[in-house]
Amino acid sequence: MIPRSRTMRDAILVLVGALSMHVVTSFFGMFQTDMYSGDIIVHTEVGQPPQQHEDIPTQYTPPKKHETVLKTAVDITHEFPETYLDAHAPGWTVFRNLYMANGTLYVVSSHPASSFPDIQYITSTGLSAENTPENIAARLPTAKDMSFITPEQARRRWGPTRSQAKSPDARNRAFNVKGNTIIFNDPDQFLNHYYHFCAELWLGAWAMWQGVHNIEVPPSSASEMTAPAVDRIIFPHTDLQGWRDRPGFNSYFLRAVFPSITVEVDMDWRDRVDATSAGGEHARVWHFDKVMLTDRSAAFKGSICGAQVHRTAAEAFYAMRQINRLSKWWWEPVRRGILTFAGVEQKIQEIGTRVEEAEKEKVNPYTLAAEEESKFPREKVVITYVDRQGVRRHLIDEDHEYLVRELKALCDANGYELNLMRGETLSKEEQLAIVSRTTILLGVHGNGLTHLIMMSPTPISTVIELFFPGGFAHDYEWTARALGHKHFAVWNDTYHTHPTLPWVAYPEGFQGTQIPVYAPTVTQIIQDRIAGKLR
Ligand SMILES: *[C@@H]1O[C@H](CO)[C@@H](O)[C@H](O)[C@H]1NC(C)=O
Ligand SMILES: *[C@@H]1O[C@H](CO)[C@@H](O)[C@H](O)[C@H]1NC(C)=O
Repeated sequence: MIPRSRTMRDAILVLVGALSMHVVTSFFGMFQTDMYSGDIIVHTEVGQPPQQHEDIPTQYTPPKKHETVLKTAVDITHEFPETYLDAHAPGWTVFRNLYMANGTLYVVSSHPASSFPDIQYITSTGLSAENTPENIAARLPTAKDMSFITPEQARRRWGPTRSQAKSPDARNRAFNVKGNTIIFNDPDQFLNHYYHFCAELWLGAWAMWQGVHNIEVPPSSASEMTAPAVDRIIFPHTDLQGWRDRPGFNSYFLRAVFPSITVEVDMDWRDRVDATSAGGEHARVWHFDKVMLTDRSAAFKGSICGAQVHRTAAEAFYAMRQINRLSKWWWEPVRRGILTFAGVEQKIQEIGTRVEEAEKEKVNPYTLAAEEESKFPREKVVITYVDRQGVRRHLIDEDHEYLVRELKALCDANGYELNLMRGETLSKEEQLAIVSRTTILLGVHGNGLTHLIMMSPTPISTVIELFFPGGFAHDYEWTARALGHKHFAVWNDTYHTHPTLPWVAYPEGFQGTQIPVYAPTVTQIIQDRIAGKLR
């Protein structure tokens, strides 16, 4: 598919997202990283709504729109093309013509700074998040992080000096960084985990990137990367190791989906900073054609991320959903990219689109009557249980064994496939082969459930997350929902599902080895989902 040609509407500054935000509360700084599994612990009392913090503004003020037509070709040697916002949601901002000198990002505009979003919704100092007022203050961006100047001020700083001005080769000391850049402004605190990197950061980035380019993904071409290529990603606050997780999924994902992408880390950013640190006649500036700037601390200032689901990606996702810029199969090009890289058969990759065809005819291809089998291929139900008994945080042993027995009985009786998956014993290709054909993914709250981003969305695709009763977190719940899978939070013999979800809570026992689960509750959910009774 060819991306839609640039319309007037695209050429006008479009400020999207967060325009209807009301109260902004935040869990700012309430995070601790769990070194072993990458899960986050938010400290709240059971049943208590998120607290409001005094230091967080309660009102998100939407900036005004600038009606400006962009020039197609810019000549940075003789002018300073103005910075435009293509899209914005807290923590996710797409700029054209963004500048950087000496570590400061510059918005060059004849419009006042007050007509742009407040910089705390755009960026931060990139420090790790801690739960102290000092740290919250230390993460607030200053003019050293982002500044607003007029084209005239830019010319005075980086234009030809007075002595050069008369020379025939007078030029601006602006140097172009060509193409599309994503700056991930976060420290390694949340980068070096499979969940946070692939299922949160890239999920949000992809929602924003596809949305801002208004890319539609028809099922027929869901395997094509129709969004403009991202040329480089920059991690200004982390080193080479900082964005890599221990099992190696992050680098696998990145290279599989974006084989041509260039990665710059803190030392590379430092080079760019140093090269532009001089003043006077050696002052220089980098001009970036297009930048998507992402910032975790800024995303947490948004009400959806900060007060509701605590997923940075949610800000980008809803900003684009609201203006109808995310089609049903928006994640599919990424998912198919990685599955193709992993050698997963095309037929398996296409389960979702095949099931959609059957659904249009009101046929459930998982429970076909014999006479329907000639019309539609039967789809196999594949249940995958992520077994965590070998690692910290797991089920009571007897409950685990009973669950496995019940799952086996259910699968034997109905001809379903059952996979008992211990991630640590399988190669990446083996894991991806299993999850790509999985209909029902099941397991105790933990990083293994991140694999849900590789499942085909279908009307019965399901994630069942087992929590210590009373405990709940949105990590996999929101992510599953955003990708079109139904999620169930099971508390032993009861469960919760959207829209009636419990408050986020980490009671005593949440991280323990005595998590109870009543197997028949789980198998009942599975049966009801397959039968189409739980939509
Ligand atoms: C560049 O940044 C450093 C550190 O913030 C500062 O000391 C220096 O004066 C800056 N250079 C210019 C030309 O502003
Ligand atoms: C879990 O549910 C079962 C079935 O209702 C019950 O017998 C068992 O006591 C429950 N376990 C816990 C720890 O509540």
